[in-house]
Amino acid sequence: DMTSSSLQILSDTEQDCAKAASVLRDGGLVAFPTETVYGLGADACNDTAVARIFESKGRPSFNPLIVHFPDVEAARAHVDWTDAAEDLAHAFWPGPLTFVLPRRAGSPISRLVSAGLNTLAIRVPAHPTAQTLLRAFGGPVAAPSANRSGQISPTKAAHVVDGLGDRVDAVLDGGACPVGLESTIVGLSDHPVLLRPGGVTEDQLAEVLGHHIAIRKNADAISSPGQLASHYAPDARVRLNATEWLPNEARLGFGDVECDLNLSEKEDLVEAAAHLFDYMHQLDATGATTIAVTPIPHHGLGIAINDRLTRAAAPRDDYSR
Ligand code: TXA
Ligand code: MG
Repeated sequence: DMTSSSLQILSDTEQDCAKAASVLRDGGLVAFPTETVYGLGADACNDTAVARIFESKGRPSFNPLIVHFPDVEAARAHVDWTDAAEDLAHAFWPGPLTFVLPRRAGSPISRLVSAGLNTLAIRVPAHPTAQTLLRAFGGPVAAPSANRSGQISPTKAAHVVDGLGDRVDAVLDGGACPVGLESTIVGLSDHPVLLRPGGVTEDQLAEVLGHHIAIRKNADAISSPGQLASHYAPDARVRLNATEWLPNEARLGFGDVECDLNLSEKEDLVEAAAHLFDYMHQLDATGATTIAVTPIPHHGLGIAINDRLTRAAAPRDDYSR
């Protein structure tokens, strides 16, 4: 019975992954590391377990979840596969890329996962701990990022514990997430469209697709609410493109600048992405009322970094938190 349990902290050993898999089998929630961010996992075929994800995140129930699989074969069984999916899976799976495809008739995945849409978001993560957990469990695992809805995504086990506490049954501690930004989401039901920038860049996608990917604008983004304006928000206000520091601000820098925390002194966007959420958590924890951020170049992974920063800086409303 998972309803009265308290939080178990588990290591990333095979034995502890097996324990975590049994928590999933009992309908419990397990936070686990992926190469992007920590996920809040539940048995995707168990309606009650999936409902507990929404409850523990405080997430609006219309915001659908990504389903995680150990390999391409397991994933494609639940959707109507396409040639573009085949090419992209070959190039980027396992890895930080999610596909949205029509849900296959007869898939046992809970309807709650896709929040009423006829599509399913699927991903094969590369992180060894995620792989061990998925294989030990042996079924699809629904997992949003393991944070309260609207707050900063977790890239360390401690972020999950701070944010969710015993709203989660177990946390697998696999250290810091190497990519540090959520997966890129592409819609593949029709011609490919970028729904959320992330760990795989537009240039990398274009190389495989043979053309630039269309980008869906915010206007009709309600089916991918990761695009809600004020997502990824710390408690502090966020001031972007700071070229000078104001008194009492927490200072987040990039490149050769004096600051409290530097995303990458050597201006490496991969390193900056890996640090982004952890440094936002750290600066938020200082109690500063504003976090100021120096400009981040707008190319490659910088596009996803700027996307998250822009959302963190957007005006807040209750709807998205
Ligand atoms: O890297 C990641 O993607 C992490 C790790 C844990 O896998 N997961 C993650 O999940 O970022 P979450 O729930 O924070 O973001 C999932 C995004 C949301 O913006 C959601 O709206 C979108 O995926 N999404 C899920 N299913 C969808 C669907 N059927 N159609 C369109 N968007 C969908
Ligand atoms: Mg999220």
